[in-house]
Amino acid sequence: MPRSIVVRRSPIHGNGVFAAKDLPAEKYLIEYRGELMTHAKSDKLYAENAETGHTFLFILNDKYVIDGTERGNDARWINHSCEPNCQPVLVEHASNRRLDRVMIESLRPIKAGEELTYDYGITLEYRHSPRLKKLWACRCGMKNCTGTLLKPKPRKPRVKPRVKPRAKSRAK
Ligand SMILES: C[S@@+](CC[C@H](N)C(=O)[O-])C[C@H]1O[C@@H](n2cnc3c(N)ncnc32)[C@H](O)[C@@H]1O
Ligand SMILES: [Zn+2]
Repeated sequence: MPRSIVVRRSPIHGNGVFAAKDLPAEKYLIEYRGELMTHAKSDKLYAENAETGHTFLFILNDKYVIDGTERGNDARWINHSCEPNCQPVLVEHASNRRLDRVMIESLRPIKAGEELTYDYGITLEYRHSPRLKKLWACRCGMKNCTGTLLKPKPRKPRVKPRVKPRAKSRAK
């Protein structure tokens, strides 16, 4: 059977993944595979990641990440786009978080030769300073490109202080 996707150099960044034939919408194209590790371990291993703007890590759930660096498959070469043609889908295991999986699914029909992309949805743990935003600059080339791979941080919910009604003065 001919392969449905191929890896080659990308105009967006480094290697990318491309449709080798016309692909239908809503089809699982590839699983994101790699070494399963805890957030704590990946934080330790890749403390400098944010400073390079490069990562092969995929957050699987609140306990684990998938590290595509060593035992990853071709899914690790899929680039980010602000107007993606694919999306990652979490396939949850009924009881074991270690057995959750991530599938990359086409969002629409994709023509042979088109690059596959999804929205990385990255937020870093610390302030997205202009320097970090530049390190994580987006080159997807789309009209609505935000210019960065980083998503705006969710604002802290602001609780309006309740105004305590002034006690009426009894003094005469
Ligand atoms: C999972 S890798 C994707 C494969 C990558 N092209 C490579 O050759 O290593 C993710 C990294 O690719 C780069 N990348 C992916 N999408 C990008 C984009 N839209 N603009 C700029 N760099 C991108 C960033 O360095 C990102 O951390
Ligand atoms: Zn972009």
